Amino acid sequence: MTKTAKLILENGTFEFPVIEGTEQEKAVDISKLRAQTGYVTLDNGYMNTGACTSNITFLDGEKGILKYRGIPIEVLAEKSTFMEVAYLLINGKLPNEKQFLEFRNGINDVSKVPDGIINIIKQFPKDAHPMGVLSAAMVGLSAFYPEYLDADLTPEKKVKVINQLIAQMRIICAAFYRHSIGKNPVKSDTKLSYCADFMHLMFDKGNIDPAVAQALDILLILHADHEQNCSSTTVRVVGSSQANPFASISAGIDALWGPLHGGANQAVLEMLEAIHQDGGDFKKFLARAKDKNDTFRLMGFGHRVYKNFDPRAKIIKKACDTVLDKLGVDDPLLEIAKGLEAEALKDPYFVERKLYPNVDFYSGIIYRALGIPTNMFTVMFALGRLPGWLAQWKELIESDAMKIARPRQIYTGDVNSEYVDIKKRK
Ligand code: CMC
Repeated sequence: MTKTAKLILENGTFEFPVIEGTEQEKAVDISKLRAQTGYVTLDNGYMNTGACTSNITFLDGEKGILKYRGIPIEVLAEKSTFMEVAYLLINGKLPNEKQFLEFRNGINDVSKVPDGIINIIKQFPKDAHPMGVLSAAMVGLSAFYPEYLDADLTPEKKVKVINQLIAQMRIICAAFYRHSIGKNPVKSDTKLSYCADFMHLMFDKGNIDPAVAQALDILLILHADHEQNCSSTTVRVVGSSQANPFASISAGIDALWGPLHGGANQAVLEMLEAIHQDGGDFKKFLARAKDKNDTFRLMGFGHRVYKNFDPRAKIIKKACDTVLDKLGVDDPLLEIAKGLEAEALKDPYFVERKLYPNVDFYSGIIYRALGIPTNMFTVMFALGRLPGWLAQWKELIESDAMKIARPRQIYTGDVNSEYVDIKKRK
């Protein structure tokens, strides 16, 4: 029997279908709400709104579960590579050997960025924030590839543009880093794995320590998708207007930049450095985070969806110890982070609000150990999140249910205001 939900309003009682996902999540389908009742819903920050159905990523914030296409994140972090996960997210299944080779070759074939984009990158101030440059370069690619601007891309063009964005993003990120230190970009070495090549593009090294490439693989896998988060929702919103993939991804980069989202990893490192410079007294910072008259928040703590623990944070914390150990790095910030975490986890303020370390709490310490500068941390998050954005964009434009995203509002402004001539206004 189909389940329904009853809504009692002043103008009647209405029934709406209840839909259930494959992981037993339930939703009231209110798509006919306004037509049937004259009402809309009001849900600040979309705390209770399912904006779409999706087959890509499942997460259960109460139980701390995260799966890509049904595979637990812990398994992927242990056994897979970032490129394999990218294929999985975008295509729905793990690739066989032939499919994986085709995917890798498809990416390697387009592992060059137009000179025009490199020239633009070189015009930016060296101290510009790399996220602004990345966003500009991404949307700038649209000028060089008009063949991907059609609203109705063929399946072949979709594959090509996805491969191209994956290939070119790493080159753009590294090219700006090199510009920022006064160096020219280097050529991609397609014999290397994606992550090893990224480190080669950044630091112009032929031999990349496998421990470094593996650490990066894990971090990028953990970042690769996170269902309808702020930046993926942005990609979907922009894509829903049939804007091209370059514009949609560039918008996702912009959304990720904010410190409440991907920008938190940079903010965490800056916070840990500030604590370190202050003599390591993290209790002072905890007190500030709890003070409602202070805008300071404990960065890398709390999550809209995870109310128990963030499974990505668990994996990263463990990886942090392993990577620093393998690379022989002794970072005082790691001890500060661990002390801060332990103290926060027994503090009633954080316990009552279910605030736990999130993915960004420890990731910066690993990026730092890999030699990535702090202002590039959010760029690294973007590099990891790209396959997720592309998977979300592809799922959206291939869905029969696709509609332009256009929420409503409840107007609370003035009613019937008078137009007064400018000279007579106070
Ligand atoms: N430090 C201090 N207090 C906090 C924090 C924090 N990091 N996070 C939430 N709170 C408090 C908040 O003040 C509020 O308290 P009260 O109920 O007394 O008003 C309560 O906890 C609920 O917070 P909220 O802001 O309503 O929760 P939200 O779901 O809207 O926000 C969040 C989630 C991630 C934006 C928030 O926890 C936060 O700002 N964290 C710090 C930034 C951060 O680490 N962001 C990265 C998120 S993970 C990466 C990603 O996927 O984007």
